[in-house]
Amino acid sequence: MNTICSDCSAPVAATATACACGGVAAFEDASPRISPSGFKRALRDRRASNELRFRSGVWRLAEVLPPLPHDAIVTLFEGNMPVYESERGASFAGVGRLGYLHLGMNPTGSFKDLGMTVAVSAAKAAGATGVVCASTGNTAASMAAYAARAGMESYALVPSGKISGAKLAQMRDYGVNVVPVEGSFDDAFNKLSSVGDGKLAVVNSTNPYRVEGQKCAVYMLLDQRDWNVPDWLVLPGGNLGNVSAFGKGFREAFALGLIDRLPRIAVVQAAGAAPFVRVFELGGDLVPVVPHTAASAIAIGNPKSWRKALRVVRESNGAVLAVDDEAILDAKARIGAEGIGCEPASAASLAGLRVLRASGVVAPDADVVAVLTGHTLKDTDAIVAYHERLEANGAKRAAAV
Ligand code: F0G
Repeated sequence: MNTICSDCSAPVAATATACACGGVAAFEDASPRISPSGFKRALRDRRASNELRFRSGVWRLAEVLPPLPHDAIVTLFEGNMPVYESERGASFAGVGRLGYLHLGMNPTGSFKDLGMTVAVSAAKAAGATGVVCASTGNTAASMAAYAARAGMESYALVPSGKISGAKLAQMRDYGVNVVPVEGSFDDAFNKLSSVGDGKLAVVNSTNPYRVEGQKCAVYMLLDQRDWNVPDWLVLPGGNLGNVSAFGKGFREAFALGLIDRLPRIAVVQAAGAAPFVRVFELGGDLVPVVPHTAASAIAIGNPKSWRKALRVVRESNGAVLAVDDEAILDAKARIGAEGIGCEPASAASLAGLRVLRASGVVAPDADVVAVLTGHTLKDTDAIVAYHERLEANGAKRAAAV
């Protein structure tokens, strides 16, 4: 599998953070010679296998991943996530069917693990001494865990004072070198090259191996739905690597004959960090913003994969919208009240779906999957503050109303 620039299609090294034109490196779509029924059968058989690499939902998908030596694989058995059907969520949003693909149910509590197992394995195979990323918290926590498993050092550039305590605790537990940076995620990302001795592999979602791992969520979702495609897939957007990964996964699954149609894809941003909404509506180049939102995971003002993500959304006849922090936190409380829970950024998907339904973009009988990207314990301060505020106002829990 070759890596090319996702914007101009020129060959680009997988280790480059950007092409000369500014685009990001991407693997060409996988096109293994395997029949759809053979592929589906292999997945089921491997799910029942105790072979170590097949206990990972990512490495079970060997045919669609860049080839790496088996002894380089670093896994925490990620990729065995549930899809929870939610009748209450469906009625809150006003749609026919709603399932939560809960990527927070991964070893470090976020979807990053799906990509990190591939990126860290590739870095190990390439002889890197360590790994580095800029992060709002989840990427760094995941990187730290996989690097620790691999016996590699890791460095996390994080916006100073803007990371949840839980994520910082994870990073430190796994032994990361924390490098606080004044400003936002975007400022931390710009400082990436200042850390390390050049032998560190950058494992942000500009690293194409990350996207390869994250696209596996699509296959896992479809497998659990017996390869029935939802009408809509809704997910939160920050740096926009994940929507690019989902788009690639669906595109490949369609080309492989595993599914007969593509879903429409909706990206939801926090109102205070919504540069993608603007570029979707107005066209032209992305205009960066200074991000402000309680959903700290998606407080990103200059997303690196916006062109790739825009193509995915446009090709799917999808939607991009913003919701305010109050709507995100209310939606989060509803997901919590069902015993599922997620971190604030994840709940943007439910809040956004409700708006899309109310405005008629999503039909009342739609079959929807909302992606929950992080675990409820990722940001406990936000939860406590929300409920204390409600109680102080004498209001009932939003979710119980
Ligand atoms: N949800 C959560 C919980 C996240 O942590 C992130 C990104 C996103 C959604 C958005 O995904 O960037 O691919 O569009 N977190 C990154 C980090 C930026 O550093 O942990 P995206």
